[in-house]
Amino acid sequence: MKLSEEKIQELIREASKMLMRSYIPYSHFAVGAALLCEDGRIYTGCNIENAAFTPSNCAERTAFFKAVSEGEMKFTAIAIIGGKNRKVTDFCAPCGVCRQVMMEFCNPQTFQVITAKSQDEYRIDTLAQVLPDGFGPGNLS
Ligand code: THU
Repeated sequence: MKLSEEKIQELIREASKMLMRSYIPYSHFAVGAALLCEDGRIYTGCNIENAAFTPSNCAERTAFFKAVSEGEMKFTAIAIIGGKNRKVTDFCAPCGVCRQVMMEFCNPQTFQVITAKSQDEYRIDTLAQVLPDGFGPGNLS
């Protein structure tokens, strides 16, 4: 599905708002995400760090887990934005673990990963492009 320019802008705006919610006392690197469901709902997420480091959660997974825990199972796109000290100077690529979580719930051929540097500087890739030959639920069926 081709996203409208307005929808892309809305997702980037919602993801950007989450930069202020990131709990980042250790890395000081804030990430915000906005996940668009097929039913039109948007779930946002921020990264949440932990003194023990490994329990930290990325913004993308926060958004996915919020959505799935509310009963959502069909997803269209996610916008991601991030930067040191909450200032965005570059694109923020989703980490490998978050790509794998996307693989669990999304069609890799159609799910769109929007990485944004600003409201009008963004790129869109499919999940298959950012996670080629991904291992997913289909491999176990
Ligand atoms: N982070 C995300 O939230 N998403 C990503 O895809 C990349 C990394 C977070 C994890 C950690 O809190 C901080 O950014 C630095 O790695």
